[in-house]
Amino acid sequence: MNGPTVRIAAQAKLNLHLRVLARDDSGYHSLETIFHRIDLADDLLVEATAGERTFDVADGAMTPMESNLAWRAAAAYATHSGWPKGFRIELTKRIPVGAGLGGGSADAAAVLRALESLSPQPVGLPEVLRIAASIGSDVPFLASNAVMALAWGRGERMLALSALPRYDLLLMSPEFRVSTADAYKWLDEDRALQSGKGDTNGAPSVVLDPVSLTTWGSIARFACNDFEGPVSARHPALREYLDQLRNSRAIFAQMTGSGSTIFGVLDSPPNYSKVPKEHRERVTTTKTAIDVVPPVRVG
Ligand code: C5P
Repeated sequence: MNGPTVRIAAQAKLNLHLRVLARDDSGYHSLETIFHRIDLADDLLVEATAGERTFDVADGAMTPMESNLAWRAAAAYATHSGWPKGFRIELTKRIPVGAGLGGGSADAAAVLRALESLSPQPVGLPEVLRIAASIGSDVPFLASNAVMALAWGRGERMLALSALPRYDLLLMSPEFRVSTADAYKWLDEDRALQSGKGDTNGAPSVVLDPVSLTTWGSIARFACNDFEGPVSARHPALREYLDQLRNSRAIFAQMTGSGSTIFGVLDSPPNYSKVPKEHRERVTTTKTAIDVVPPVRVG
């Protein structure tokens, strides 16, 4: 390790509320969502180098470099700011992949925050968020200083909110995974069918009053995820898992992102022995975050 280096925890996110709105000409949908950070995090070491670019994953499982969001974020930062020319990234993965927890986006966002903290000439938060938005819809929130935020558009417009009280979480990642592209496709297919039957498919009118965004109990009353219906129609086991979680003492239970992880919010640690044996290896326990973990300079 020779260049300036930081270690950073790439916190995952939950979507407490997720409405998929209209699809624009580019084929992408705009969103209305409430993000909340959680303690579960990947661990990244980010070093600025003179030119060499490397990326290592602790368990060796690698996706092609160019499609790796953290790599793309580092390359985009280098292009926009001119510094650093190179980077060395070491990633230890803990967030389940392709699970709706924003794992890849969290890594990308953490790399942006790490490089910004190291840079002799930081580009500033608005520019960091602009780069983040070019990487993906979850990246701006995870690159921001917000623990919780209401976000809309493609996730690049946000209203930062105070963290909700620290609660326990049970995450269950089913045996099947859902690709983001499939989830949007299924949602469009189902909506097209419903509109053929005369059903309304728009999001119902809603007034989000600020007080209802301050407690888990009040958020639970309007929490929703538009992907839950289309995904559970293709994977009926998801409905079963959700019913089990909803019949537990969870304050609320829901799928996050485009799936397939479901989460239950609990007011005390989950009792592992009550989790059915066959599901235990798919269950992770963690807590909701109360702060954004800052990068730590290690070199
Ligand atoms: O963001 P990502 O490239 O993972 O998205 C995969 C696909 O999901 C996109 O090609 C698009 O079809 C769909 N998508 C969308 N609206 C979004 C995000 C993704 O329609 N806001």
